[in-house]
Amino acid sequence: MPHFRNSTESYGIIAQAFHWLVAVLVFAQFGIGVYAANLPVSLARLQWLSYHKSLGLGILALVLLRLAWRVANPPPPLPDVMPLWERRVAGANHRLLYVLLVVAPLAGWLYASAAGLSVNWFGLIQVPDLVAKDRELAEVFKALHIGLVALIALLLAAHIGGALRHAFVRRDGIMHRMLPWKPDRKS
Ligand code: HEM
Repeated sequence: MPHFRNSTESYGIIAQAFHWLVAVLVFAQFGIGVYAANLPVSLARLQWLSYHKSLGLGILALVLLRLAWRVANPPPPLPDVMPLWERRVAGANHRLLYVLLVVAPLAGWLYASAAGLSVNWFGLIQVPDLVAKDRELAEVFKALHIGLVALIALLLAAHIGGALRHAFVRRDGIMHRMLPWKPDRKS
């Protein structure tokens, strides 16, 4: 029976939906960002950058909602069968990912503002600039944005590697805590 809230054993369907939605959008966002950044100066580049900026602000809003849900619904603790150091590393990775998923889009928004590339959210809402146009500042925020998203990519690689190890090497059921279906016995 699916449950909305997290239990002590597993994530509820709201936390699972946030997790997989943010995962898919962040992957798409990486692809669109790299693609747009490598296009020659053109209308197409502006259009793809516009999708990237709109999607990025959408991700920021979703991550803030997800964090609010997490505060109201603490995640199920990692089981004692996992060594303490692994539980600590996994917890630190999760917390750092949350911080970066807030700070990296903010750096992108600061960059777009300083570069004079104001965001019109999917052509629907004119989003205010965070700072006035300033070329030098724009270069600083651009480097910050790229550095932070590179760090997200590294942490995600460790996160996905760890999850796959639980699913296919250890088969300890940790991966299933984030999946809407459960095996009859331990995976
Ligand atoms: C989780 C959210 C985000 C991720 C994962 C992300 C990721 C990326 C990536 C991978 C690139 C390409 C870097 C390169 O190859 O040079 C990029 C570029 C860029 N991003 Fe983001 N981004 C996010 C949010 C945002 C937001 C919210 C904005 C603005 C509102 C933004 C504005 C930009 C801009 C303007 C560029 C182009 C840099 C250039 O001029 O070359 N990003 N982003």
